[in-house]
Amino acid sequence: MSQTARIIAAQDPLPVQVPLATEPLGVLGSFRSARRNVLELIPELATHVPIISGRTGKRWHMVMDPDSNRRILRDALDDYPKSDVTKMILRPGIGESLFVAEGQHWHWQRRVAAPVFTHRNIANLAPVMTAAADRASARIAAAEGRAADLFEEMVTATFEVIADVTLSGGEGFDRAAVHRGINAYISETAKVSLLDVLGAPAWIPRLNRLFTTQALREMKEVADRVIDARRDAGPAPVPDLLDLLLGGEDGKTGRRMNTAELRDNLLTFIVAGHETTALTLAWSLYLCAFDQRVQDRARTEAQAVLQGRAATAEDVPHLPYIRQIIDESLRLYPPAAFLSRTAQKQDRLCGREIRPGDTVILPIYALHRNHELWPDPHRFDPDRFGPGRKPDRFAYLPFGDGPRICIGASFAVQEAVIILSTLLSRFRFGLVTGRNPRPVMILTLRPEGGVWLTVERA
Ligand code: HEM
Repeated sequence: MSQTARIIAAQDPLPVQVPLATEPLGVLGSFRSARRNVLELIPELATHVPIISGRTGKRWHMVMDPDSNRRILRDALDDYPKSDVTKMILRPGIGESLFVAEGQHWHWQRRVAAPVFTHRNIANLAPVMTAAADRASARIAAAEGRAADLFEEMVTATFEVIADVTLSGGEGFDRAAVHRGINAYISETAKVSLLDVLGAPAWIPRLNRLFTTQALREMKEVADRVIDARRDAGPAPVPDLLDLLLGGEDGKTGRRMNTAELRDNLLTFIVAGHETTALTLAWSLYLCAFDQRVQDRARTEAQAVLQGRAATAEDVPHLPYIRQIIDESLRLYPPAAFLSRTAQKQDRLCGREIRPGDTVILPIYALHRNHELWPDPHRFDPDRFGPGRKPDRFAYLPFGDGPRICIGASFAVQEAVIILSTLLSRFRFGLVTGRNPRPVMILTLRPEGGVWLTVERA
């Protein structure tokens, strides 16, 4: 980069960020700020140092160090199971499914589910994603010349995809009922829970959990009916996630999933998969609107490859710059903005003593913006992921890592590339003055107020 280019770059504005805490919050302050935005609990310091420890009711450590992350997520997996809080939040909706189970019960489910997500199976599901990209284009075209909430649009698109590959085909499948249940579950159940991560007393009212009971029951009933209908009907010619899971068995023990286990895992795929992918797309679109040079370069690539049609699985390897934008968006706005574990054994991380029962938090948001690990970390620069450039593996964890790495990562990336490239080839997006999204951590890192962008035909 020339001297002039560097000066101009240094003056460029930065995309939106979470205001991180700059002074110790204390117990009450932490709880108050957790209600507002959990990310604000992560001190600014976390973007400079490898570990921060504290006590807010419970002892906790925030770890931003690649070597410690490798230990927690891979080498000493059994000593760092998912935190009690994570499980408490998720169980009412998704039972003892893949996402929350531990030990043997996790292992056999992972063995059944892993073959479902092979490259070939995921590529076979691409037509569902292509169709969703076309339908999203039609809806967005109706907003040409105006502004639209692209987060809302992306939630609709990714829900269509995940619903079509898990629960479709059942008699009277009520997509809206499942969507209602899932939304109520995600947005209500998770709100209070982050107080618990920091050791809030058990009496903190968890009213919102009561509110979700009805929606949850409805959602489970719909899923059970679809599973039973599909079992009777047999698999479709191109098997979807439910067919594959229905046909799957644990190679070691021969065990197959019963209806309740199938349902909990399908709902897990829906919960873990649709909003996270919608967020990836919405943040990517925001970033493209934020930097028109990036958007133009992406559009040139997408138009050259797609020639007006929607993207398919075969196009994905030919859209490397679109993929770089998605990777960079997952760095700046990781949908799973922090992972938490409960330590089982005495240990040392970054020279710090870890005791059994301590909460170990991996604030992915702060890891991805740590100045020791990323040059100019708050800047949007998809070329960080350019050809031949790979970040340190345990410094970049949008999908976690180790044996419990996201099982749906390739599914999500394929879907995001297909939808983003299709939209950028057809439309030009711009920011709306005064309507910047505000990143807020609920169960995921969401843009408060939506992602409002102007839409023009490209
Ligand atoms: C961009 C989209 C996505 C992101 C950012 C994401 C992120 C993550 C992360 C960080 C984890 C690890 C959690 C931990 O270690 O505590 C995870 C696990 C998981 N994800 Fe995803 N995910 C995405 C999409 C999906 C999709 C599309 C599916 C399914 C169709 C899915 C299913 C799962 C499951 C089942 C697990 C638990 C795996 C296990 O513990 O064995 N995810 N995801």
